[in-house]
Amino acid sequence: MDHQFIAQQLRKPSGDFASKIAEKMNTGNKPLYDLTFKALQLNDGNRLLEIGFGNGIHFKELLSLKKELQLYGIDYSADMVKLATALNKKHIDSGKIVVTEGSSDQLPYENQSFDLVFCNMVIYFWENPGDHLNEIHRVLKPGGRFCTGMRTKESMLEFPFTKFGFNLYTVDEWTSLLAKNNFRVMNTLRSKTLNSMTLTKLFSLNRFRLRL
Ligand SMILES: C[S@@+](CC[C@H](N)C(=O)[O-])C[C@H]1O[C@@H](n2cnc3c(N)ncnc32)[C@H](O)[C@@H]1O
Repeated sequence: MDHQFIAQQLRKPSGDFASKIAEKMNTGNKPLYDLTFKALQLNDGNRLLEIGFGNGIHFKELLSLKKELQLYGIDYSADMVKLATALNKKHIDSGKIVVTEGSSDQLPYENQSFDLVFCNMVIYFWENPGDHLNEIHRVLKPGGRFCTGMRTKESMLEFPFTKFGFNLYTVDEWTSLLAKNNFRVMNTLRSKTLNSMTLTKLFSLNRFRLRL
């Protein structure tokens, strides 16, 4: 299959191929979600936001991890929002899950709305990461945390489709970008079985601290 087409679909799944690419991502990225769920260190009643949820197949498992979680998801692919809505109808109808079509550089939420924000395999598509990180910072409560799950630059370069519009990062490059955007990196988890998959867990800085 054409690598450029795959790259476009991973960036924003759409059309006839959308459900197929979502299923492929579900299988390929399941180990990353397992790692993410551990790293989130959820508490009962947490309010959390996932950016770029794909078809949201993992939402049910996430909701089962603690009591009274409130889960929000935002994805700029209309087809992903549609699939996630169909797959999670019961929880969406009951109000436990709210999914919205939109982009992470213009989040439609009030300041200080979330205890946790996370995204997996999404940062490659941010042209101006500072715009997205600013928004994430804005919607986090003081002391809230942001987790990013990604494959590192070294492992992504093995995939030919990453030549087409992917912004790749080493762990050091990503963590220094976070630091420049008012996040303090708490730890980085790596899983060898995931071929250098990393997960960075962050605390937002106190909101009274001004950007340098
Ligand atoms: C490579 S897929 C990853 C899906 C899922 N997180 C996973 O790991 O399997 C990227 C997803 O992020 C969404 N996405 C990319 N950039 C986005 C943005 N700026 N705002 C919201 N969603 C975005 C895409 O539509 C797609 O669903």
